[in-house]
Amino acid sequence: MNLLDGRALATTLKSEIKVEVDAILSTGKRAPHLSAILVGNNPASESYMKNKFKSCEAVGLTSELIRFNEDITEKELISAVVKLNEDPKVDGFIVQLPLPEHIDSNKILLAVDPSKDVDGFHPYNFGCMAQGLDCFLPATPYGIMLLLDRNNVSTEGKNVVIIGRSNIVGTPMSLLLSRKGNPGNSTVTLAHSRTKNIKGICKAADIIISALGKPFFVTVDMVKPGAVIIDVGINRIDDLSRKSGSRLVGDVDFEKVSPIASHITPVPGGVGPMTVIALIKNTVKAYNKGNN
Ligand code: GUN
Repeated sequence: MNLLDGRALATTLKSEIKVEVDAILSTGKRAPHLSAILVGNNPASESYMKNKFKSCEAVGLTSELIRFNEDITEKELISAVVKLNEDPKVDGFIVQLPLPEHIDSNKILLAVDPSKDVDGFHPYNFGCMAQGLDCFLPATPYGIMLLLDRNNVSTEGKNVVIIGRSNIVGTPMSLLLSRKGNPGNSTVTLAHSRTKNIKGICKAADIIISALGKPFFVTVDMVKPGAVIIDVGINRIDDLSRKSGSRLVGDVDFEKVSPIASHITPVPGGVGPMTVIALIKNTVKAYNKGNN
């Protein structure tokens, strides 16, 4: 079994990005800048944000967190988005999801200038991705593409099963891996809550990507020996042996599945650190496309 170590790869990629950013700074130009809007105080979102900003700082990017209370109106949030669209010092920004229920996320994402949409969530970028045109790729699928590529995991002609059809992970991942290219050229099945015989479908897969958010969903009887396993799930479960009383696990029964997998991502330390790298790469790309 080969561990697909996202934490180690993220460290390598951060060094590469830092060289690129240092070269920009040495010419006297300003650093690329990422802003993020966070509404409310969802603990998972707070933790993602902290990681994102720490990594930005490590590679020389500047960043700013813009916080709003849970009771912000849709109109006020759109005004905040427009302000960032118009700020020449902001190269890219994200609106952390999920948003409170009284806000229509689609309306907010549509208000983001596609040239600053480093999350790749605007329909313009999503459409360009589907057509194989240059665009910002959504962070998690982009991070997984980097992880596969840098670990020389071949996807060419492989049967890939993706579990979960969200706009953030499953659906874009299915598009990227079915596109021409490397990674890509896969035969993709996008499985979801209405899929019949999910066990049988997974058992035939060369590569399983689980983005469901259910601990221990992918069990050893669903996995073909030698399969590649990418676990996007981040689930907190009770664990009274820990001081905190809980621990993070993915969607995959790692202990039982890892001995039969050819490659597998750990949770934490697999896909998570790669999404941060993808976001930073998109921000540097946005910077380089602008007139700085
Ligand atoms: N919530 C969970 N993942 C993401 C992400 O990649 N981007 C944003 N903006 N929110 C998220």
